[in-house]
Amino acid sequence: MPSAPDSLTITRPDDWHLHVRDGAAMAAVVPHTAAQFARAIIMPNLRPPVTTAAQAMAYRERILACVPEGLAFEPLMTLYLTDKLPPDEIARARDAGVVAVKLYPAGATTNSDAGVTDLRKVHRTLEAMQRAGMPLLVHGEVTSPEIDLFDREAVFIEQQLVPLRRDFPGLKIVMEHITTREAAQYIRDAGPLTAATITAHHLLYNRNAIFTGGIRPHYYCLPVLKRETHRLALVEAATSGSPRFFLGTDSAPHPAHLKEHATGCAGCYTAHAAIELYAQAFEAADALDRLEGFASVHGPAFYDLPRNSGTLTLRRQPWTVPEHYPFGEAALKPLGAGETLAWKAQA
Ligand code: DOR
Ligand code: ZN
Repeated sequence: MPSAPDSLTITRPDDWHLHVRDGAAMAAVVPHTAAQFARAIIMPNLRPPVTTAAQAMAYRERILACVPEGLAFEPLMTLYLTDKLPPDEIARARDAGVVAVKLYPAGATTNSDAGVTDLRKVHRTLEAMQRAGMPLLVHGEVTSPEIDLFDREAVFIEQQLVPLRRDFPGLKIVMEHITTREAAQYIRDAGPLTAATITAHHLLYNRNAIFTGGIRPHYYCLPVLKRETHRLALVEAATSGSPRFFLGTDSAPHPAHLKEHATGCAGCYTAHAAIELYAQAFEAADALDRLEGFASVHGPAFYDLPRNSGTLTLRRQPWTVPEHYPFGEAALKPLGAGETLAWKAQA
């Protein structure tokens, strides 16, 4: 039996799904991501949302201003799809360097009120995206109150994604932060233009984490953690070597006091230890040798971007995650606060 390695060097990874917010909050979190990742796809769910190429480019400049000296980090910008996003904004966005458009079903999650109320309303914009080679990133949950919260992803695939895939056969689609066996199977079989990101927290935890010893708001995100069979299916998918699955943290910072609240916000903050959390999940599955493909190879291939030229080294070097990080005027409680992680990315 080979002994467990004490260090692992991989091509510098990218985060294909990230929330950095804006203003002082953003200044607090961008350095964490820039320390590990060469690029990240930046979610557009600001208030108001990022809906024009010009707004995306201005947001990009604000992000770059938060990157510490000496680090090279490239934010990859997205637009927020609304019922009214004009088809001709797509070519402008592509020409400005926007890499994708994000679909939030209206009401599905944080800052999704401006999202799409009915896919039929955006058909012309989706056609423009298909023509321009602009990928669609999907928050895949239905919002009908009569559908059980834990079933919203599986029902979305049946009711929305299957018809969307059929109607736009040339559109690249990424189902973001998948959480179920149904999604993993769907993606595996859907062909080369369909892929999925998987978060570290969905690989590491099942829904018991939200309720262990009392209600634990820092494990609450959307789509919500699912039961163990689903977690195992996600681990299987992420470590399978299939190029359809790649890293997207969905690191989603909220002030601690708004998560520890009667109506706590959805989102887990993982950027402080993103690659370490993934390494933990891959090692538990005895698949550390598959981490590089998932973190550094499959994403650029799907997006038709070059692989990064640098490397990132992880060492087996136990460290304790801080209880809080500063977050503007508030505090930010990271996932795994106070716990010991086995791996540490080297600066
Ligand atoms: O948990 C989540 N938080 N899920 C999302 O889809 C949005 C995100 C956020 O922006 O906080
Ligand atoms: Zn997200």
